[in-house]
Amino acid sequence: MQEKILIIDFGSQYTQLIARRVRELEIFCEIHPYHHLPLIDESVKGIILSGSPFSVHQNDSPRIDLAQWRKKIPILGICYGAQLMAHVYGGSVVRSEIREYGRAKIRPLAESGLLKGVSESSQVWMSHGDSIQSLPDNFEAIARTESIPVAAYQIKDEPTFGLQFHPEVTHSLEGKTILANFLLEVCQCKADWTPAAFVEDTVAQLEAQLGSDKVVLGLSGGVDSSVAALLLHKAIGKNLYCVFVDNGLLRKDEFAQVVESYRDLGLNVIAVDAKADFYAALAQISDPEAKRKAIGKVFIDVFQAQAQSLSDIKWLGQGTIYPDVIESVSVKGPSVTIKSHHNVGGLPEKMNLKIVEPLRMLFKDEVRKVGAELGLPTFILNRHPFPGPGLAIRILGDITPEKVAVLQQVDAIFIEGLKAHNLYSEVWQAGAILLPVQSVGVMGDERTYENAVALRAVTSTDGMTADWAHLPYDFLAEMSNQIINRVKGVNRVVYDISSKPPATIEWE
Ligand code: XMP
Repeated sequence: MQEKILIIDFGSQYTQLIARRVRELEIFCEIHPYHHLPLIDESVKGIILSGSPFSVHQNDSPRIDLAQWRKKIPILGICYGAQLMAHVYGGSVVRSEIREYGRAKIRPLAESGLLKGVSESSQVWMSHGDSIQSLPDNFEAIARTESIPVAAYQIKDEPTFGLQFHPEVTHSLEGKTILANFLLEVCQCKADWTPAAFVEDTVAQLEAQLGSDKVVLGLSGGVDSSVAALLLHKAIGKNLYCVFVDNGLLRKDEFAQVVESYRDLGLNVIAVDAKADFYAALAQISDPEAKRKAIGKVFIDVFQAQAQSLSDIKWLGQGTIYPDVIESVSVKGPSVTIKSHHNVGGLPEKMNLKIVEPLRMLFKDEVRKVGAELGLPTFILNRHPFPGPGLAIRILGDITPEKVAVLQQVDAIFIEGLKAHNLYSEVWQAGAILLPVQSVGVMGDERTYENAVALRAVTSTDGMTADWAHLPYDFLAEMSNQIINRVKGVNRVVYDISSKPPATIEWE
């Protein structure tokens, strides 16, 4: 049975970060909103209570029944989680004069397994409006800071702890040691959740779940759908049918290269050339949202036609990952909000398909590790994100096959240049945009009146915010020269120096 830690989410912005830290220690964990708890069995080795934007004094603040676990399962309360336990059992939690936010130094007050190996005045990260003024009788403060009397506590003779600060953020310099103490010493977790173990368990589960059923899955050339396909393939082999659609909006030569790699990996790939359908649907459309809708509709039609031509398909495989499944801010809602992947529309209902999502418990970097374990080629594994509507939202205005061909050449020079100068992995996403602008230039003795293109490269961790990448001037100069010299129809290159917000990464 897979050991796990449960993280109970009270709506903190840091909840996912707690999960990341636990998993970095090779221990599996799951996040559940406090009002929607799963059955707790012996696989649960410990419970972590998250922080929250609420104060324990608010009438509608989140509550749980702690008595059901105390003394049976180790508990670690972080920030609100710690305040809640102190408050419920009779301690006093007070509104701080000023909201404490930022670095503080903790001073140990008593011996405790939780703080083992942590230095005398270790830096921690605080973010709270309330603080614990006094503890219930059987609680013991094990650390304080200059400004608060209880930075950490333990309930006497019981594996239950509270931390006022956030051990999960990197500004808590020894936060990882504290979490490791809780997980390895207190909860006695085995720390054996590795990519190899994940593959082994998941494949066994998929075998049991799917038996000899057939599954259809849409490949996009990206990491998530590729890794989902490899896991399913390992479990059910030729009963997995992968559909990869060429929408005519991919990068230069990408379709052929990716299909070939998938086939080398043994996948059963149905490669569909639907370029003409997409171009026809996009003809004369300039509005970005209308382009997206048109592309989505053709994709569903093409995918559905393929899926229906296969007999006896029972399941639709999807590359949904954990951040799509959990929505930590929604803890006040009636249930966990699940963002569905709309790329196959109403297909499951229409064809009466069940859904199988082998990556639904993984974060993006974990998907990459599992992909490496399964032998996915590095050019797919480390690929920048690429939008579903592809180059259609990087050609401002209407789309024609000729414009796509021009942009593909520009994009290929830029991306190959980034790789050749070891800059590709320094940026989070890069691409080129074909502008609906013509400008005057001079080539040889002749005046030209041709297209301008923009280059965009950003640094980011999740695409929610981004900064423009400070690429070297020499590199940009080389790209500009190569593009203007080699791509017919382009006589001007500009570099986008906008951050997100207020700009977005894509221009449409
Ligand atoms: P923005 O432009 O909103 O993009 O800053 C953030 C990230 O999302 C990608 N993106 C899309 N991905 N369908 C997708 O699958 C879309 O319609 C779409 N629009 C933007 C974008 O490439 C970036 O990674």
